[in-house]
Amino acid sequence: MSNIILLGPPGAGKGTQARQLVESRGMVQLSTGDMLREAQASGSEMGKKVAEVIARGELVTDDIVIGLIREKIAEGAEGGFIFDGFPRTLGQADALGDLLAEMGLSLDGVIEMAVDDGALVARITGRSTCGGCGEVYHDQTKPWPADGKCSNCGSSDVKRRADDNEESLKTRLMEYYKKTSPLLGYYYAKGDLHSVDGLQAMEAVAADIAAALEA
Ligand code: AP5
Repeated sequence: MSNIILLGPPGAGKGTQARQLVESRGMVQLSTGDMLREAQASGSEMGKKVAEVIARGELVTDDIVIGLIREKIAEGAEGGFIFDGFPRTLGQADALGDLLAEMGLSLDGVIEMAVDDGALVARITGRSTCGGCGEVYHDQTKPWPADGKCSNCGSSDVKRRADDNEESLKTRLMEYYKKTSPLLGYYYAKGDLHSVDGLQAMEAVAADIAAALEA
């Protein structure tokens, strides 16, 4: 069993690769972005509170996301956890270490998905997601099937995110470089960091991640 973090800027391909790992290894994907969007869709007080923050591209407070992750870790995962979009601050990284230790679990690796900023704009503005199963598509690189139905679940519910525009992406990138990129040094110093070229084709990225997990 492995518990890993996928670390990278918005649009690096974390969600795409996490879904592959769920399928191929039976791991459990914990995406704080998905959890926050679910809270928004449910109309909960917390969901209402974070909606504008997310639309602007800023980070939600540590206490909210740590609370969400705490609940999910407590449920356990036989195949291991993939932390997707968490941690994003040094405070969250310390909290994750503590939560795993409390559960008698360890962190087995941190995969950095490196992608140039230039490629991220095209990836983010072309993205759509299946409302039925969460499968990720892209207008150019992975378009919706011609029959309009998701190839994974058959749903025709195409979703586009409110923060997937150039303006919010600028803020999301600034947040990433200011608050999240220091985690690269944090995990490098612990000997946990593996870097993968996220600009490659999806299959090549998946192969490099698999190799990093074997190592
Ligand atoms: P979140 O949902 O985590 O978004 P993000 O980190 O900005 O990452 P994305 O989901 O946008 O990108 P991704 O790396 O998963 O890329 P994907 O695989 O979809 O967070 C959203 C917001 O929630 C944050 O801004 C913040 O407000 C809040 N939040 C969440 N977590 C938080 C936390 N821990 N603390 C505080 N706030 C938090 O791929 C993108 C596109 O590229 C797709 O169309 C895909 O098909 C395509 N693609 C993927 N791989 C490739 C490839 N190799 N080649 C070509 N195209 C590719």
